[in-house]
Amino acid sequence: MNYIKHFAPQKTRTEIIRLHQQKQRWVNQQKKGFLRFRTPYQAISAYQSSRVCCDHDLVRLGDPDEITLQQRQEITEHLRAFMPWRKGPFSIFGIDIDSEWQSGRKWQRIEPHLPVLNNKVIADIGCNNGYYMFRMTPYKPQFVLGLEPSVQHYYCFKALNSIAGFDNLEIDLLGVEHIHLFPEVFDVIFLMGVIYHRSSPVEVLRELLAALKPGGTIILESQAIPGDEPIALFPEKTYAKVPGTYFVPTGTCLQNWMIRAGFGDVELFCSHPMNSDEQRRTEWMIFESYEDFIDPGNPSLTIEGYPAPCRVFLKGTKT
Ligand SMILES: C[S@@+](CC[C@H](N)C(=O)[O-])C[C@H]1O[C@@H](n2cnc3c(N)ncnc32)[C@H](O)[C@@H]1O
Repeated sequence: MNYIKHFAPQKTRTEIIRLHQQKQRWVNQQKKGFLRFRTPYQAISAYQSSRVCCDHDLVRLGDPDEITLQQRQEITEHLRAFMPWRKGPFSIFGIDIDSEWQSGRKWQRIEPHLPVLNNKVIADIGCNNGYYMFRMTPYKPQFVLGLEPSVQHYYCFKALNSIAGFDNLEIDLLGVEHIHLFPEVFDVIFLMGVIYHRSSPVEVLRELLAALKPGGTIILESQAIPGDEPIALFPEKTYAKVPGTYFVPTGTCLQNWMIRAGFGDVELFCSHPMNSDEQRRTEWMIFESYEDFIDPGNPSLTIEGYPAPCRVFLKGTKT
């Protein structure tokens, strides 16, 4: 737990350490559900490479000529233990991982609107396997903390970063519900693909504002419904087959939530419809994907008959 030294949240420091230790005791148990991800992580951590490139859509960690054919087979098997791979693509010692999402496209939309990341303290909440954390490294942030409650993604990130060895990236088994423990800690917060899973989104935004330093920036990305009216859809059970979905706002609705939560300079900088080219089944994610979530007879509707999703990108500052 190196990250604590980057922050000085005196009042909550003890609570963060307690929570971290509690999570570590939990995840370090000798149980099947943890070992299925811990074992491949430990095996992969025997390999390191200085040949790392995070400047392009394909994040490259290691080159093919650094390993033998047999090692390639072993590493491939360990990497497959982290399936389904949702975020990517990655090339690990030349093993190409085509993930469900073409995450590079999201980063391309964000990159022109990034605040200064150099030397900044950053949170990526719901960081998954850390794809975007790796994409931040060329900007030389002081530190990026990934908050991710999923054990699968936690160990996947650790496996990837054990190869890359970025000492300014770290992950912890925390969620957005713990962000109140980090008052005025972060210069930049990324919350992407998470807010529609929260039952009180405006409350979440208020807590995120409190976690930013004065002058800090939030990059907020969300699933959305199309339209200009400031409204949100509240699905009966699932939205595009995804359970645990609460409010799916329009871009302007999300903009209003941010303003009402207290953010300044709120800007909706990108909005685009979703499609089955950007989110699809691959060899590394063999389950249902976007085309299975959409009405086969009418692509403007989800399988439940709701408006099909688009994605919206906003930023705001703590003025
Ligand atoms: C739809 S994915 C988005 C991943 C990534 N941020 C992106 O934009 O591509 C949602 C991520 O949030 C994580 N997550 C689940 N519950 C969470 C929570 N309470 N707080 C933060 N993240 C959570 C999931 O495990 C998953 O990695």
